Amino acid sequence: MAIPQSFLDELTARCPIEEVVADYVTLTAKGGNLWGLCPFHAEKTPSFSVSPDKHIFHCFGCGKGGGVIRFVMEMESLSFPEAVRKLAARAGLEMPEEDQEAQRRRAHRRRLLELNRAAARFYYETLKTPQGAPMLRYAQEKRRLTPAYIKRFGLGAAPDAWDSLIHAMAAQGYEKGELLEAGLAVAGKNGGVYDKFRNRLMLPVIDAAGDILGFTSRVMDDSAPKYLNTPETALFKKRGILYGINFAKLTKRGFLLLVEGNLDVITLHQAGIDNAVATMGTALTIDHARLIGRYTHDLVLCYDNDAAGVEATQRAMTVLRDTDFNVRVLQLPRRRTESGELVKQDPDDFIKFQGPAAFERLLAGSEDQTVYRLEVVAGKHDLTSNEGKVAYFKDIIPVLAGLPSAVEREIYAARVAKEVDISKESILHEVERHRKGQVRQARRKEERAALTPTANIQPKDRALRYENPRSARAEEGVIRLLFLDPTLLKLCGDLTPESFSVPLWGRLFGLIRDRGDEGISPAALDGELTAGESDWLARMLQEPQSLAEGRQAMADYMEIIRAEAAKRLGPAEDPVADLLAIQAKGKQKLEREDMK
Ligand code: UTP
Ligand code: MN
Repeated sequence: MAIPQSFLDELTARCPIEEVVADYVTLTAKGGNLWGLCPFHAEKTPSFSVSPDKHIFHCFGCGKGGGVIRFVMEMESLSFPEAVRKLAARAGLEMPEEDQEAQRRRAHRRRLLELNRAAARFYYETLKTPQGAPMLRYAQEKRRLTPAYIKRFGLGAAPDAWDSLIHAMAAQGYEKGELLEAGLAVAGKNGGVYDKFRNRLMLPVIDAAGDILGFTSRVMDDSAPKYLNTPETALFKKRGILYGINFAKLTKRGFLLLVEGNLDVITLHQAGIDNAVATMGTALTIDHARLIGRYTHDLVLCYDNDAAGVEATQRAMTVLRDTDFNVRVLQLPRRRTESGELVKQDPDDFIKFQGPAAFERLLAGSEDQTVYRLEVVAGKHDLTSNEGKVAYFKDIIPVLAGLPSAVEREIYAARVAKEVDISKESILHEVERHRKGQVRQARRKEERAALTPTANIQPKDRALRYENPRSARAEEGVIRLLFLDPTLLKLCGDLTPESFSVPLWGRLFGLIRDRGDEGISPAALDGELTAGESDWLARMLQEPQSLAEGRQAMADYMEIIRAEAAKRLGPAEDPVADLLAIQAKGKQKLEREDMK
């Protein structure tokens, strides 16, 4: 880690978690902890807790948790160093000098960004030359882009040649190695290097800060691949990129519009819909959601109206389900061609045929996700036949039953009632029956879990799954004790991270051990742990642990961990197990002697 531990310690001492959280959330004291409405999910009664003693926050509702730095990371959608910087400013602390390695990385990143900018300028200039004439014609005639928007989005032309860019960049002092690294050139089989983008319309991909991360590009005919992107590089990481965000972030509309295509974004902006963004031809990820969350929590999805689009919409909703995003869906109608055929349209087609005003009307009427989900289910059935209606009715009941509020259930039941000619009352009756069944099932599950106490302590994150709950419980105990009283480390003797069955607890044990008596604060770990790991740690630290019997508890926990490790690792490889085996043998021998 680039930021020295001593600085993080000082920072967290100067930024008490309860004070930092109070900048965002109203907290009330109750039973040793502070409570408030969780800022990470929508709720009406407080389940968000801050423990000033343990220096953590933890939400019993959504499970989010961690130290003060993690809190700022989540709250402001910042990376670890960014959050540290922000807290340092709050506390009036000077950031420590970066180490040389970090300085070198930063300089290298800047160099690659400059190269991308120089390349973008080259492509843009080429657009005005005879070599760029086909691309300019395509942009203006086929895509109906105005010179102003061609310029605004920095469109360009990659000449139909093998090394135009390489030559142009060499003249500015960039080496082939750098072009390879930026994904602007490719290495051929015989050691040669040639331009990655040839004979294409070029679209620079710009991030929220205005840096050019890479390019996407389109052919001007029907050849394949239609779109070609910069490969994954140090700068260009598709899973977090939103095309158009540099402009869309300035919108006054209060929400973002997510569409599928990059050129759709430009067409939309040109039509005055200045909040459109697109992923780079990939599904929406939680990284995208975080980026969007910096600006707004209102999102309208506008994927193509075909099977793939419906699936993409549903996948995006799944990603967004655990966030507090307010999601609506805009479905573009199909278009009837002159020959009478119904074809799908994307925003680009729609604006071309129906115009911007029509798009605005659709946008105003875009429906919330519940209506969309009802429609998806309805679309699977033939509602003109009685059998179809019955099948739809069966499918729709669980969807309605899943709606959290009675008002919503009532409203949507009325909607369904109209579609299938069944009274709203009978629909609601069915829905309530279904809900009762769900409650019964949930209760039975809870009872079962209570009978097997280890079953309900599994982390949500599958990567953290407890393989050995008995050992895991003991490992949790050790970590909790060490957080409360680092001097107990003395009792841990030969315990090693490898003795832990849960890799996360083993890793934490190693970190705590390396810090010795000073101990470690949850905030200092915020940069070491993933969000999921941080949540799980805060949940675990939140559980009661008495220090009164600390020494005895530590001994008990260690015995369990050792015994389970011995079983797991087998006697041959594990020194702890070997030791136990020897001890056990000695004991047997003694016992036998006793018997004599
Ligand atoms: P589409 O092929 O659905 O359509 O690609 P489009 O944007 O309407 O393309 P036009 O109108 O024919 O120009 C949607 C997005 O999927 C990615 C691109 O990001 C594109 O914008 N894509 C598509 C690729 O990455 N590669 C491809 O070969 C095709
Ligand atoms: Mn299109």
